[in-house]
Amino acid sequence: MPLCSIAYCSEAAAGLTVDQLNALVRDAMYHNRLGGVTGVLLCDGIRFLQYLEGPGGGIDLVYSRVLNSRRHSNVMELARGQGSVRRFPYWSMHWIPVEQHELHAAAIADWTSMKVNRAESGVIVAGVELVSAIVANHR
Ligand SMILES: Cc1cc2nc3c(=O)[nH]c(=O)nc-3n(C[C@H](O)[C@H](O)[C@H](O)COP(=O)(O)O)c2cc1C
Repeated sequence: MPLCSIAYCSEAAAGLTVDQLNALVRDAMYHNRLGGVTGVLLCDGIRFLQYLEGPGGGIDLVYSRVLNSRRHSNVMELARGQGSVRRFPYWSMHWIPVEQHELHAAAIADWTSMKVNRAESGVIVAGVELVSAIVANHR
């Protein structure tokens, strides 16, 4: 079954607290498990950048929940792709506080190759590689 992925960035709702974000992610984890979706959510206090991966049906369901959430606005899709290897298989969802410059760099990274990437082709996906590097830096 092909693995689908989506990356987007958005603006956090004003006044969103860490407790609220933790609750949001707990809720997200529940639904992601149901849909077989894994991924990571970066937050710099102002903006989000999320990477989601899983079967097409699960991704569609989860992404529609994301788009309908009032906890953020101005959702901008960075890329959609297909592959066969999960980048974050251990997280049904996990949020990581990052610096503004890190999230900015990931948002303006080259996500174009994800649109044609197949993991088996060995093509390097700059955007998701940068997200992986940021995640590694915060572990
Ligand atoms: C930045 C962000 C990331 C989210 N990620 C997921 C997710 O991975 N899976 C999911 O099912 N819902 C996700 N959601 C939806 C939330 O878990 C939650 O259901 C939603 O925020 C509740 O709707 P409300 O905020 O409009 O009350 C996300 C929402 C936001 C704002």
